[in-house]
Amino acid sequence: MKKIKVNDVKLAYRDEGTGKPLVFLHAFPLNQMMWDGQINAFAPEYRVVTFDWRGFGESEFGTKNLTMSDLADDLAELFNQLNIEKATICGLSMGGYVAFAFYRKYKEKVNALILSDTRETADTEEGKRSRYDMAALVRSKGANAIEKTMISKLLSATTLQSLPATVELTRAMIAQAHPEGIAQALMAMAHRSDSSDLLPTILLPTLLVVGSEDQLTPLSEAKRMSKILKNSQLETIYNAGHLPNLERPENFNRAISKFLNRL
Ligand code: MLT
Repeated sequence: MKKIKVNDVKLAYRDEGTGKPLVFLHAFPLNQMMWDGQINAFAPEYRVVTFDWRGFGESEFGTKNLTMSDLADDLAELFNQLNIEKATICGLSMGGYVAFAFYRKYKEKVNALILSDTRETADTEEGKRSRYDMAALVRSKGANAIEKTMISKLLSATTLQSLPATVELTRAMIAQAHPEGIAQALMAMAHRSDSSDLLPTILLPTLLVVGSEDQLTPLSEAKRMSKILKNSQLETIYNAGHLPNLERPENFNRAISKFLNRL
C-alpha cells in the first residue's frame, strides 16, 4: 500500500486507473479494503482513489480532538498532493459525514456526490452518549471489544447467514483499526455539525444508495434526504445492510455505473 504525508500524518492510499477521478470515503470503523470491489469495477474506466482515514487501516493517527472538518482537510490535502482538482465523491456513512464537511469547505472540488447509508443530521443526545461509552470501552479494552456489536449492526441478516467471507473481512477491518483512532472518530462523529442547512443548497447530481436492511441509517432516512436534495436519485440495494458495496457489490456497482454514465 502506498503512503502519502497529508497534514501531520501518513495516510495509506490507492490511486488506480486513469480517467475522471472517483474518490471513495470509507465507513467507521473500517478501512479502504471495503472498496476493493469498487476499485476492480471502476479502475478500468476511472481514476479511482481510496485511502484509510487517520487512525484506521494502515494510516497513522495524529492530533487529538479530531473533527469532521479535520478529516475534510485531510481529503483536500490528499487532492492537492495527488493533483486532483475535482472528483466525484462517494462517501458511505462516516464517509458521507465527511463528504458533507468537505462540501461545506471545498465545494469547488466536488463534481458529483454519491451518498451511501448516511445522514445529514447530527447525533441525538442519546446517540452522543452511546459514542462516549463506546470510546471508553475501546480505550480500555481494544478494538475487539466492539467487533461483535458492530458486525451485527453493519451487516444484514442475509449477509450474516450466507456470506462468511464478507463477515470475516468486516471483522478483520475492525481489528486493524487503532483503538485511539476509533475513539477519536467516535468523538468527531458525536460532535459533528448538523448539515441540514446544506442539503437544500446542493444542486450537484447526487446519488443516494442504501441497503434495504440498513439498521443504522435506514431506507426512510435516504427517502427523506432524496426529497430535499434537488438533483438526486435513490437506489435501494436489497438483501444488504449498512455496507451494500461490500454485501451486494454487483448491485451497488450497477447503481453507481448508471449514475456515472449519466453525468
Ligand atoms: C459508519 O458506518 O460509518 C458508522 O456506522 C456511522 C455512525 O456510527 O454514525
